[in-house]
Amino acid sequence: MRLIFLGPPGAGKGTQAQYIVRDYGVTQLSTGDILRANRKDGTELGKKAQTYMDAGDLVPDELIIDMIKEELKKPEIQKGFLLDGFPRTVPQAEALDTLLDELGLKLDSTLVLDVPNDELVKRITGRRTDRKTGKVFHVIFNPPPEDGDFDLYQREDDKEETVRNRIKVYEDQTKPLIDYYSKKGIAETIEGIGKIDEIYGNIQKVLDKYK
Ligand code: AP5
Repeated sequence: MRLIFLGPPGAGKGTQAQYIVRDYGVTQLSTGDILRANRKDGTELGKKAQTYMDAGDLVPDELIIDMIKEELKKPEIQKGFLLDGFPRTVPQAEALDTLLDELGLKLDSTLVLDVPNDELVKRITGRRTDRKTGKVFHVIFNPPPEDGDFDLYQREDDKEETVRNRIKVYEDQTKPLIDYYSKKGIAETIEGIGKIDEIYGNIQKVLDKYK
């Protein structure tokens, strides 16, 4: 199964991706997670990406496309993938088309997680991530189990002002991709409001078609 996960910041892509990976055997490729790992390791890419990420702006297309090219060459990708946070611009989507053509691969679906803006700000400012496992929680909507041993942190770009810029960047540069994939007949919108497991149930209804 080859999937794209599209949706605004804080829509719940990372949260739902954990279940999709568990149940459908695909590899999650989150460009945000890969960039954060590069920053942590102090790589050249991480250093170049830092200022853009902290401002809530997009990292330049050429850096992202080179990065994803390397990821798509990895053997585990053969079993299927879920692109989370990529593509985010029309040039990135066009580059992905070329890359997949070269690899002889075809996308099955683009899942579009739909959540209104006022809800996004509440979700992102309350988000906490476990340093050890990468598991994502929310201080109110999805608190970690009390008996768990978690080392939670808040992301640098989750301050309200930065979040508002990220939402604007999404609307200007990423939302046009809904149209891009609708024209290819592979965009499927999922209502992203409600309980996490109910939303996942709706995702399963879509994905079970491609099993
Ligand atoms: P990235 O890491 O991709 O961030 P994002 O797209 O902004 O997405 P988020 O991780 O913020 O949200 P999510 O949808 O995964 O939500 P989550 O599940 O955590 O990108 C970060 C930066 O990297 C970008 O700004 C850019 O600079 C750079 N970058 C990355 N990719 C790039 C690219 N392709 N091109 C250029 N630059 C790139 O959920 C959010 C919160 O809500 C959590 O606390 C969760 O517990 C809670 N929650 C989830 N579901 C529900 C629910 N149903 N009800 C209530 N709460 C919920």
